Amino acid sequence: MKKKVLVTGGTGYIGSHTVVELMNAGFTPIIVDNLSNSNISVLDGIKKITGIEPVFENIDCKDYIALDRFFEKYQGIEAIINFAASKAVGESVEKPLLYYRNNLMSLVNLLELMPKHGIDNIVFSSSCTVYGQPDVLPVTEQSPIKPATSPYGSTKQMSETIIADTVYAYSNLKAILLRYFNPIGAHPSGEIGELPNGIPNNLLPYVTQTACGLREKLRIFGDDYNTEDGSCIRDFINVVDLAKAHVVAVKRMLENKSEKSVEIFNLGTGRGVSVFELVSAFEKATGVKVPFEVAPRRDGDIEKVWADTSYANEVLGWKAQETLEDTLRSAWNWEQKLMSRDGNS
Ligand code: NAD
Ligand code: WQD
Repeated sequence: MKKKVLVTGGTGYIGSHTVVELMNAGFTPIIVDNLSNSNISVLDGIKKITGIEPVFENIDCKDYIALDRFFEKYQGIEAIINFAASKAVGESVEKPLLYYRNNLMSLVNLLELMPKHGIDNIVFSSSCTVYGQPDVLPVTEQSPIKPATSPYGSTKQMSETIIADTVYAYSNLKAILLRYFNPIGAHPSGEIGELPNGIPNNLLPYVTQTACGLREKLRIFGDDYNTEDGSCIRDFINVVDLAKAHVVAVKRMLENKSEKSVEIFNLGTGRGVSVFELVSAFEKATGVKVPFEVAPRRDGDIEKVWADTSYANEVLGWKAQETLEDTLRSAWNWEQKLMSRDGNS
């Protein structure tokens, strides 16, 4: 019997790639998503890659009763991967209550329903945003949590606390908190990828949209940071590598290998890449020019952050494999598919 895993937010960017990797690993993922930031056509993409029609339920995780009914219907779920959340940092500043309600209520509902339905294991999507600007680089899981700079960041910090408190209170529960650095790229098939809503906030979608002429030029926010070339530094992690880490985390919990009831892992490459470096790596990998100009610093940006991945490598047994060049090509391939599919309107 294939093991069932609930994937909330499973039609989203990271969720859809994780659904594919769960299927490849012999699990039966069950997707719950309210399509607030994703499209139902993602299910076709997943089927094209895996040959398997994903199980999908259109449910809002804020809706306790609907989730309760869902668990009644799908008995025997062994683990939950909780991607469902709102994630736009800027929007969270304008609409904080939307973020607190969506990200926290969804999580609390799931945690409340887990003991009721005999589910012991949860993997949670956290973020390197919890570290703010670390004092020491690379950043380890022991680095201090800095005051959040946005309501979005607060929800990730609060979620981690809510999970830790709940696991402490219910001795059967186990959790793995995965702190992602900067996920980029798309599935190599070009069947699934990131679907930014409107004008992209994140760097790589803006780069690919500029490369294909949808945007006039990229604005590089700041060239006067205290870094070698003056632009910010990030740890860009391939989304398929990231997805695979979730499969490893689920297996770890199901095989009772966790050393603690709450484990935290950084998911990154361990390599810092500047914004200028990313743009020139994209041009080199794809042969396509990206017009850009230097613009003022963006409010709230961290100067530099990259992961110490040794704990994830050694204890979780996961390591990022893809090269930056292949990852950038996958993002470009996806952008071109989007353009030819629907004119990217
Ligand atoms: P995404 O927006 O593509 O995916 C999230 C999915 O959750 C979407 O399909 C959306 O429709 C769904 N969703 C949102 N609220 C819901 C609700 N109440 N009920 C049901 N479904 C709901 O985002 P993503 O980039 O795939 O991110 C997934 C998770 O990883 C999020 O929790 C995000 O905060 C976290 N994360 C993302 C990044 C990143 O840069 N992409 C970095 C660190 C952490
Ligand atoms: C990367 C760098 C920008 C766009 C965000 C969230 C974080 C996490 C990951 C969820 C920065 C620069 C960007 C552009 C640019 N998400 N940039 N021109 O800010 O590291 O992190 O996504 O948890 O919480 O804050 O990612 O891709 O927005 O920016 O110069 O048009 O690219 O200034 O230095 P960021 P990003």
